[in-house]
Amino acid sequence: SPATIKNICCIGAGYVGGPTMAVIADRCPSIQVKVVDINQSRINAWNSSDLTKLPVYEPGLDLVINRARHRNLHFSIEVEKAISEADMVFISVNTPTKTKGLGAGKASDLKWVEACARQVANFAKGHTIVVEKSTLPVRTAEVIKTILEAAQSSLDRDLNSPTFEVLSNPEFLAEGSAIHDLEEPDRVLIGGENSQAINSLAWIYQHWVPEEKILRTNVWSSELAKLTANAFLAQRISSINSIGALCEATGADVREVARAIGTDSRIGSKFLDAGPGFGGSCFKKDILNLVYLSRYFGLPEVADFWEGVVDLNTWHQHRISRLVVKKLFGTLSGKRVAMLGFAFKANTNDTRESSAINIAKDLLDEGAQLSIHDPKVDPKQIAVDLDLPESKSFVSKEFGSNEKLGEGIWCFAKDIADACSFADAVLILTEWHQYSQIDWVEISKKMRNPAWVFDARSIVDSEKVFDAGLQFWRVGDGS
Ligand code: NAD
Ligand code: UGA
Repeated sequence: SPATIKNICCIGAGYVGGPTMAVIADRCPSIQVKVVDINQSRINAWNSSDLTKLPVYEPGLDLVINRARHRNLHFSIEVEKAISEADMVFISVNTPTKTKGLGAGKASDLKWVEACARQVANFAKGHTIVVEKSTLPVRTAEVIKTILEAAQSSLDRDLNSPTFEVLSNPEFLAEGSAIHDLEEPDRVLIGGENSQAINSLAWIYQHWVPEEKILRTNVWSSELAKLTANAFLAQRISSINSIGALCEATGADVREVARAIGTDSRIGSKFLDAGPGFGGSCFKKDILNLVYLSRYFGLPEVADFWEGVVDLNTWHQHRISRLVVKKLFGTLSGKRVAMLGFAFKANTNDTRESSAINIAKDLLDEGAQLSIHDPKVDPKQIAVDLDLPESKSFVSKEFGSNEKLGEGIWCFAKDIADACSFADAVLILTEWHQYSQIDWVEISKKMRNPAWVFDARSIVDSEKVFDAGLQFWRVGDGS
């Protein structure tokens, strides 16, 4: 019978490990789930009684945590103990792009995954199913297996040396909708060799996922399918953003083009929103990983094809910065830009690879004063991302004194109105709902004329902006 899983350990309490395990614990009350991490402050935040202090912001996450935590969901730093008690260990640690050595700038850095495999090898007891939850290069399961097998044969283990099975079970959740995506996934993918191990993992998901949505493949297909899914998704965004630039040049409107092509069922209507370029911790890293693998396996044409998706995205981000500078008469020196949104998408506090980072850096280089607003991002994180400490708040300072305040500085604004005070331009970078509700007549009174609104997310009602006497630019709209 596959129904033997009683104790799960998940290594890595991040954006994936935390929400994923919370939903498993919520749906499988008979399984004890321990989520462990080496980051004590992250674990403390997961254990916080104040649910607004959880380290990850996701709509609905607080309710799931509230139901399962301290019942069968536990967060701790006791990695070794949790491994030793587990029948199944999920590896859900970070896999960023390597910064130095072989494959630097492209290949995934597997040092955290390798460290996990070694820990599992050292502390597991009995039969243990090891599940790759992190996104990994094709054939990583082999690396993990080699490390685990070395432990099995090592002399310092006693006769009850553990046995292992390795499965690939990539995660497809998107941030901002993680709980929905976990509760009603399009599919769950399990790659493996051993049908009993596969069935054990499938049994967990069967608590809430219909059987026909649980796909079984070999390990390598599963690993590669994850990279491919992200590459295809990111490719759609680069495709639509490239067409958006052409729309701006020709008088077409990318939203109309997207609607026209999206009704073709072969193309589909989702993921066709032009924006400031894709961000997030994974699209870029996963495509670069695919690029690296393609080159490694002697397929330079395949590598170049996918690398183009990332190159276009970077070009597009800088295109937006250049456009803002041009519209503001070619210089931002002594000018204030209200940047609305810093997260890489709405409904998350995550800023990793956010287009806002590159665009803000460009504008700071041009001498701008940025007043940055985001409803969920911590200003301390912005300082880290921009590699520049926050200036003492300048948002409420008197009109006319902008020039004296300095150049290339930023401060955090507590609300939208404050962000826009004395600004020459508003630049919307994240599609937070509240930015679509702005009263432009009120805001225009606070700005310095001639004032611009740059809508990189197409969420603003252009009529209302024009009625308020403001100038307006929208991504991909040449009409
Ligand atoms: P994250 O950085 O938010 O979390 C990873 C956690 O692992 C960190 O808290 C870190 O302290 C911990 N960790 C690292 N090494 C450890 C060790 N040896 N022992 C214990 N803890 C350790 O990362 P994430 O966003 O959750 O992503 C994790 C993986 O999931 C990545 O491979 C990513 O590509 C993949 N993924 C992410 C998303 C997403 O939306 N963020 C979606 C699907 C897949
Ligand atoms: C993405 C995938 O959607 C998930 O399936 C995958 O699990 C995850 O990566 C991962 O592996 O990390 P995520 O990055 O959280 O999820 O968010 P997305 O909704 O995919 O958005 C990514 C970026 O593309 C955001 O910056 C978003 O604003 C942008 N985007 C998305 C657009 O510009 N236009 C669109 O139409 C859609």
